[in-house]
Amino acid sequence: MNTLKNLFSPITINKMELPNRCVIPPMGTNLGNRDGSVSDANLAYVKRRAQSGAGLFITEITGVHPSGTIGLSVADDKFIPGLKEMARAIHQAGAKGALQLHHAGREAYDQLRKGTALAPSAIPSLVYKIAPKEMTLDDIHEITRSFGQAAGRAREAGFDAVELHAAHGYLLAQFLSALSNQRTDQYGGSLKNRARFVIEVIAEVRKTVGNDYPVLLRISAEEYIKNGYTVEDMQTILPDFVNAGIDAVHASVGTHGSPGGITSAPLHFEEGWNAWRAEKLKEVTDLPVIAVGRFSDPRLADAVIARGSADLIAFGRQTLADPDFLIKAKESRFDEIRKCLACNQGCIERLMLEPGRSIRCAINPETGQELVYPRKPAPESKKVWVIGMGPAGLTAADEAARLGHQVTLFEKEEDAGGQIRYASKAPGKQIYAEWINWLIRQVKSKGVQLKTGTTVTGEILSTSKMDAVILATGSKVYRPDIEGSNQPLVCDALQILGGQVPPGKNVVIIGGGFTGMETADYLAERGSAVTIVEALDRSPVSKATGQGYILHKRIKEARCKLLFNVQVKLITANSVVLISHGEEFVLSVDQVVLATGAVPNQVLKEALKEKGVPYYIVGDARRVRRIIEATEEGAEAAWSISR
Ligand SMILES: Cc1cc2nc3c(=O)[nH]c(=O)nc-3n(C[C@H](O)[C@H](O)[C@H](O)COP(=O)(O)OP(=O)(O)OC[C@H]3O[C@@H](n4cnc5c(N)ncnc54)[C@H](O)[C@@H]3O)c2cc1C
Ligand SMILES: Cc1cc2nc3c(=O)[nH]c(=O)nc-3n(C[C@H](O)[C@H](O)[C@H](O)COP(=O)(O)O)c2cc1C
Repeated sequence: MNTLKNLFSPITINKMELPNRCVIPPMGTNLGNRDGSVSDANLAYVKRRAQSGAGLFITEITGVHPSGTIGLSVADDKFIPGLKEMARAIHQAGAKGALQLHHAGREAYDQLRKGTALAPSAIPSLVYKIAPKEMTLDDIHEITRSFGQAAGRAREAGFDAVELHAAHGYLLAQFLSALSNQRTDQYGGSLKNRARFVIEVIAEVRKTVGNDYPVLLRISAEEYIKNGYTVEDMQTILPDFVNAGIDAVHASVGTHGSPGGITSAPLHFEEGWNAWRAEKLKEVTDLPVIAVGRFSDPRLADAVIARGSADLIAFGRQTLADPDFLIKAKESRFDEIRKCLACNQGCIERLMLEPGRSIRCAINPETGQELVYPRKPAPESKKVWVIGMGPAGLTAADEAARLGHQVTLFEKEEDAGGQIRYASKAPGKQIYAEWINWLIRQVKSKGVQLKTGTTVTGEILSTSKMDAVILATGSKVYRPDIEGSNQPLVCDALQILGGQVPPGKNVVIIGGGFTGMETADYLAERGSAVTIVEALDRSPVSKATGQGYILHKRIKEARCKLLFNVQVKLITANSVVLISHGEEFVLSVDQVVLATGAVPNQVLKEALKEKGVPYYIVGDARRVRRIIEATEEGAEAAWSISR
């Protein structure tokens, strides 16, 4: 029985009738062709998402003018055929489509390098630190016209609506912000003046598309940066946008440079955390308002609509993690939903921090690979052994079983999960354990034979029969050769997180990487006084990632000390002797925790070579990295066996 009657009730935006209140918000993919046209990979990705059952699919940023295009383009008629295909793919899946119209302004890297990037003022990009050109009045009029022309092309391509991207620090948002707009003419100064460009763009688009065509406006309801504009500012100006001709408001948050990447909030932000800003906008308009921000449970989305905080809910990263989650929700199969971890590894941080790479999802190997993802069962059902029940092994087993193989999955410990058994103990990371539980339910439901508490040895391999082996044995803790490291006060980070060793009072953690920092967070929450010592001259945990930013913040707030350029000379029964810049110093401690990394565990490799069956080494067993590489390689191994 479907209980989500609010989420699955119809709504109309202008004349566009939507069967439900579920929206897929715009998400850049970097799957398009280099010239900005739609590629087959784009179409396959869009089709898969549109099949989710969401009423409205909003496309990724699509540039209205060459000076601000950083992905797909609608700046010329030549792009219409590809966009037509995209609109058709959305319609065939039963959804309505809106094209997101975009100009990157000072956040367009190629244009910044060429000196052609435009912005309200010549203030450097927050991301690339290069200054754009201040727009002349002629530039402003040209870009305004280009928004109108682009909207006309969107309509011609068959899209049911357009969304104007005035959020996240791109050109329209740059005008709205007093930080990036320091003009002294009628487009700068007061909030009304700064909003003039957006209002003129809305009016131009409305003039082009006529009164019946839906025009959505996406804003950051709060700039979420020091001295940035506030929700109250947006409440003041929204009526002017409404009067200029919009039909719905999409209430996002944040800008480039907002701390912690909160536009796609990391996991320490609670689900639906941004909905209150949508509610604030609803106070000043009767138009439909879309809420967005870490919605992954459709029941919460339903409740947010029920309490009147928003009219529609956008599910972004959740549709990357599980494009079928709405279908499952409609049938009350909530346990089957693969919930987004908000880790940002495969999606926003991959696009922003790993230039040239296209979209993926750390826990869904299909995402961004829709063209190569095998959908039919393997031609021959093989007997596959998967060794190790961490992310790599579980994903490999799940994919191999999905493709019709007879899979046996081994784990030497009593519990599955590999390193996630420890990772999920760090504050806020319980959702990782839920993901492992989801994977276990999946493999069981597909008939995989699970053998926990079973260490696979070379002997077992040599005397057993199988057609292929996936070696997903992860890593082994690396213990450096430090004098005194056999003292009773020394343990490793996994022993702390796993609960085998209780927290000490005065603790030194050796190693300031992710594991060291998360262990510090865990210990601090339990009242330990923690000092982290790191040999490098800066933190290996980058604040550029959401997870890294939050971790640094929490460590600082918990008053953990973080010392760099420090070598450990000696551990005694109650102290550590450290060296920094040639100077020795001593810390009195009752616990020393090693967080000094891990090395691949490939002990079965030689036995597999001898065995002569095809084998694949995946995840940390190949090289110690992250979950995204583990799941990707696990899936690829299963796909290779199936070819
Ligand atoms: C504290 C901590 C926090 C982390 N946080 C993150 C994070 O936030 N994001 C991220 O991307 N990564 C994180 N990682 C890293 C991530 O957990 C690993 O990259 C990932 O688990 C690797 O997956 P895997 O399946 O390759 O190996 P593992 O997770 O190590 O799993 C290997 C499994 O194989 C089993 N095994 C080994 N030998 C045998 C054998 N002979 N027979 C049977 N079973 C065997 C092991 O017992 C283990 O369960 C974290 C790691 C730690 C320790
Ligand atoms: C990979 C990725 C690409 C994104 N690209 C866009 C974009 O093109 N336009 C836009 O307005 N927002 C973009 N966003 C922001 C999302 O639309 C959404 O507001 C954000 O992810 C928060 O929603 P979620 O928590 O449901 O993911 C992107 C987010 C992700 C994860």
